[in-house]
Amino acid sequence: MPVVDRVPCPGSGASAFHLRSGELWCEDLPIRELAARFGTPLYVYSAAVLDERVQRVRAAFGPEAQICYAVKANSNLSLLQRMHGLGIGFDLVSGGELGRVQAAGLPTANCVFAGVGKESWEIEAAVQAGILFFNVESPHELPLLAAAGQRAGQRVPVALRLNPDVDAGTHAYISTAKKDNKFGVALERAGEVVAAIVANPWLRLCGYHVHLGSQLRRVEPYVQALARVGAFVDGARERSEGVTHYDLGGGFGIAYGDGEPLDVHAVAAALLPMLRARGWRPVVEPGRYLVGDAGALITAVLGEKNQGATDFVLVDAAMNDLMRPALYQAEHPIVPVVSGSGPSHVVDVVGPVCETGDFLGKRRELPHCERGDLLAVLGAGAYGASMASNYNSRRRPAEVLVEGKTARLVRRRETLAQLLSNEMDLHEA
Ligand code: LLP
Repeated sequence: MPVVDRVPCPGSGASAFHLRSGELWCEDLPIRELAARFGTPLYVYSAAVLDERVQRVRAAFGPEAQICYAVKANSNLSLLQRMHGLGIGFDLVSGGELGRVQAAGLPTANCVFAGVGKESWEIEAAVQAGILFFNVESPHELPLLAAAGQRAGQRVPVALRLNPDVDAGTHAYISTAKKDNKFGVALERAGEVVAAIVANPWLRLCGYHVHLGSQLRRVEPYVQALARVGAFVDGARERSEGVTHYDLGGGFGIAYGDGEPLDVHAVAAALLPMLRARGWRPVVEPGRYLVGDAGALITAVLGEKNQGATDFVLVDAAMNDLMRPALYQAEHPIVPVVSGSGPSHVVDVVGPVCETGDFLGKRRELPHCERGDLLAVLGAGAYGASMASNYNSRRRPAEVLVEGKTARLVRRRETLAQLLSNEMDLHEA
């Protein structure tokens, strides 16, 4: 039977988070019940959104594309397993992320490994594991990669990360391809680095990589970057020999309740003909686009307070649970889990952490809240849990994955004992 009273939730980028009789649901479960069962603050993820987003990217870029989910966006083991089940690989930036893929029992053959400063053990571990390729960002990595290849008796596949000096039009902290950013190799220097790669018997040049930044909403930077990479590659024959892949990075933006997400079909439509003309297979590394709208942070109201000209709603989630507002002035839609009938007023939603920068949302129109009422911070699936910290000795939240009528705990709430364990029983060697 169709659900008749199901309506979209304002601000949500995914229909899995919707309202039934004025109450927020995730798929076929009321959020209120999840909060009662698992406690707050709580990250709730929808499996349907993960599936749908992977399908969207696959439909846009076609079967020839290798999708590598950027693990940093949300590295929960159960989410990684779900992504693998959808047939995609992983974009890694640390030995820890490689360890997560391995701990989840997943193959590493479709992993790429970027990172502006890789440690020797990380290179060694990834060579041992066997990955699709390394995204090389700095010339000093080449001898380290070659030595690891020699020890393993195999040539190491390398994609050179180029810095095309393209303005991604995003927040300065997550813009990565301007010439003054630390990432990639500037086009003027890249010729020497390619020469060093092709001269090394333990390295194999298999592609180029760019990552322009995060939360991009426009197609043009992707086109501009590929055009610049193409012009560079055309500058000498050795730059294209053996090259099979173009890794265009991630950065696909979502709406966060304001404007349009990036049109991934338009990106693919613009880039695919250029790539086919060169015989290059696309690799894409979306993080936020796959998981951002799939998650909400559920928090309980601790109280209300008025100070100066501001009405505050104090909640039990804070900047340590979701750093994005404090760090990037990010604006996540915030909605009541159960809509009240009273008049709404403009409030700052703030956590208990001892910093004025500890806010989840400023100047939001919300109904009057009582202690114990629940709020949902939407679009929190990406860079929420994965950036959470223990600041103020707060325990990181529990995480739940919803699939239809089923909710599965995929990360237990941290305990105080776990938080202290590395500082206890230290026996001097
Ligand atoms: N590939 C590389 C090489 C990256 O550095 C990143 C993100 C991605 C892919 C995935 O980007 P995405 O598709 O998720 O935009 N903490 C920030 C975002 C930092 C992104 C860092 N690199 C935030 O909360 O907005």
